[in-house]
Amino acid sequence: MHELVASHITFAYASGPPILVDVNAQVACGKLLALVGPNGAGKSTLLRVMCGLMRPQRGKVEFDGASLFSLSSLERARRVAFLPQAVNPTFSLSVFEVVCLGRYPHVGALRTMRQKDHDVVLRCLQETRCDALRARDFSELSGGERQRVLIAAILAQEPDILLLDEPTSLLDLHHQIEVFSLLKRLTREGYGVAVVTHDLNTAARFCDHMLLLSSSVHGVKAEGTPSEVLQESILSEVYETEVKVCPHPITGTPLVTVLDAERYP
Ligand SMILES: Nc1ncnc2c1ncn2[C@@H]1O[C@H](COP(=O)(O)OP(=O)(O)OP(=O)(O)O)[C@@H](O)[C@H]1O
Ligand SMILES: [Mg+2]
Repeated sequence: MHELVASHITFAYASGPPILVDVNAQVACGKLLALVGPNGAGKSTLLRVMCGLMRPQRGKVEFDGASLFSLSSLERARRVAFLPQAVNPTFSLSVFEVVCLGRYPHVGALRTMRQKDHDVVLRCLQETRCDALRARDFSELSGGERQRVLIAAILAQEPDILLLDEPTSLLDLHHQIEVFSLLKRLTREGYGVAVVTHDLNTAARFCDHMLLLSSSVHGVKAEGTPSEVLQESILSEVYETEVKVCPHPITGTPLVTVLDAERYP
């Protein structure tokens, strides 16, 4: 059972203030982890450190006990895939070609795609409901369509661990739930998944574990199951606004509502 473990991470950008101080996080195969917290809390920073894009000043990131930084970039890409928060490429490639790029860690620079690679790409296009888009020019897609194609591309990478930074921020209601269902299914198939989202209610419904980050503590303010983390007192303090939490009438998972002081004094 694979796992990606970040221990005692301290990170600051250039000469700026510390963003993360002594942060621990773990993404285990079979589990769906949600990283939540206000804007600027350090969620994207933590994911970039955990995928090996940025080195922390202190602490370590290990995949199955070996430092992520001891692996070559191709070895790392076969284990951990990262979907950044905002990708706005200007290249002109078809959707099919963009998803093929995800096979790069398996195919390499000099070999051509084999039948198996084609099959993986087609399966990932289907899983993300992108098959109808495959011949389209990526640069001409809507924001949400692009987001789904990029998810297909990192699935085609076939890593053990997926780190996704706000993968559903541009998706409509239906596709949001489809992506979270897909991520849940992938964890059942053995993937480990960490997902950053501002949608606390959907995270509560699908995720096994949550980390709530806050800039006031430069790291993890609360962690545990969604019910343990999504508590009125914790959320009201971290988001600096009054919230109510009640059980979702259908799923029973925590349902967070922000109270608008003017309408619900
Ligand atoms: N490249 C950078 N150089 C300097 N500071 C940065 C850089 N990237 C992020 N920061 C700062 O680090 C802090 C954490 O940013 P980060 O992007 O990790 O937050 P976040 O939790 O992902 O927020 P959001 O929900 O808005 O995406 C912020 O104060 C931000 O301004
Ligand atoms: Mg972010």
